[in-house]
Amino acid sequence: MNNNWWKEAIIYQIYPRSFKDSNADGIGDLRGILSGLDYLKNLGVDVLWLSPCFASPNVDNGYDVSDYEDIMPEFGSMADFDALLAAAHERGLKLILDLVVNHSSDQHRWFQESRKSKHNPYRDYYIWKPTRTAAPPNDWISFFSGPAWSLDPQTGEYYLHLFAKQQPDLNWENPALRQEIYQMMRFWLDKGVDGFRMDVIPFLSKDTTFANYPAGRFGDLTYYANGPRIHEFLQEMQHQVLRHYNCLTVGEGFGVLAEQANLYVGKDRHELQMIYHFDHAVPREEARFLAPAPELSLIELRGIFNRWNNALGSDGWQNIYFGNHDNPRVLSRFGNIDQYRYESATMLATVLLTQRGTPSLYQGDELGMSNHLFAEIEQLTDVQVKNAYQNLEVAQKGLSEQFLAACNSIARDHARTPIDWKKAPNEIYDYYRQLIQLRKTNLVWVHGDCIDLDPADNAIWAYTRQLDKDQCLIVCNFTDKNQLFDLPEALSIEKTVWLVGNYPPVGIRQKMQLKPYETRVYRLY
Ligand code: GLC
Ligand code: CA
Repeated sequence: MNNNWWKEAIIYQIYPRSFKDSNADGIGDLRGILSGLDYLKNLGVDVLWLSPCFASPNVDNGYDVSDYEDIMPEFGSMADFDALLAAAHERGLKLILDLVVNHSSDQHRWFQESRKSKHNPYRDYYIWKPTRTAAPPNDWISFFSGPAWSLDPQTGEYYLHLFAKQQPDLNWENPALRQEIYQMMRFWLDKGVDGFRMDVIPFLSKDTTFANYPAGRFGDLTYYANGPRIHEFLQEMQHQVLRHYNCLTVGEGFGVLAEQANLYVGKDRHELQMIYHFDHAVPREEARFLAPAPELSLIELRGIFNRWNNALGSDGWQNIYFGNHDNPRVLSRFGNIDQYRYESATMLATVLLTQRGTPSLYQGDELGMSNHLFAEIEQLTDVQVKNAYQNLEVAQKGLSEQFLAACNSIARDHARTPIDWKKAPNEIYDYYRQLIQLRKTNLVWVHGDCIDLDPADNAIWAYTRQLDKDQCLIVCNFTDKNQLFDLPEALSIEKTVWLVGNYPPVGIRQKMQLKPYETRVYRLY
């Protein structure tokens, strides 16, 4: 077994609700995914990550699980799941599931029991606090607006929910809860699933003093990450479950700083294989729904990639992405959909597949999908949008236009619209396919060092990948104008081969004229 297979792999994220609908009820489903496997195999990806497909009341589209060992009826049955897994394996594709264990749904049997009485055996599966005054136990706020505590009338105590109030946080301090989760993980791994993407994994361990936010950090949601026992819990999970299977683990690293990453993914840590960070994700705190943050400049974006490459060094490994179900479409952020859809989509694809890390592609990006323009607030269905709308008193304060404009730039709904299969595959897909093949035959793209040629350049992102004598040069124009690029003198360009690009092939020059959103990759000898 190649012990680096997960570094060389390419992950493709499927959001089951909007991937492919097999029975024309308007909701994507497992049989739909099965019928899309040849499309994915042909694209060349290795691992499919399924966003949650478990039983759920869908307050947060499946990130609120009511039964971890059952399938969401809208998506199909366990038999459909087994058929999907078998069909994926037949094609040599791996399948990983979303492990959402920071919280469950309030409809989960454990929570239904837990809320019944203070002495219920499941009480301690969640985090309950008595009321001091009428106020919540501390000043923590939730990701989806309002306090992170809700009062439950049945017992007169508050429970913690870092997300919506229908997503109570599980109490990882309780060893019995941890064993239930490990048992559930074994259930899926024994079926043959190939690993997990782990939802907000740095949140599992809480500051059990439940003190207010530290001074100066009120409202800072990253405060919930990296709690005192997080590494102990992950090592226990590795020891009791993961190491017994040859599986893939990707942690959603919200709140993990680059300097902390190797505590999760360092070679000798026995925790996770890789995590992904949020440094280039679109900020979506509640206030952003009235005033979105300005988009990152190229200097900022490449700076983030450089910082992570440096921090991980040769010890740890990361999962890299531009799009996922929590971000607007990357093409609408850094591309140009009016004039240069093909050019900008393929340029961004080139960066993602040639930077250092295991890439995750998000469904539809390989077809050049962009944000959907929402005409009415009612068309947005994400719980985060709905709660922000209420809490910000958008209607009462006459802020509808501003709110809708913000949603049109930052809302998660943009990534959740159905794929239009009539337009697939297309020439952007073909380009992705070509890049993926090249990545498999140019392992320098995987293992090589990544050296930024000019971190201060705000128009052209050029870098090399280097592994012993192997060297590639990647040049990407991030603008809609022609740009002149001066190759650093130190690079040897006597013998070069053009590998791929989104305009007709041209030989390397000391001074290169790049067209709008042009990208080129050369092998240097
Ligand atoms: C993660 C998921 C997101 C979800 C949240 C709560 O950030 O990616 O979609 O809303 O966790 O589970
Ligand atoms: Ca369906």
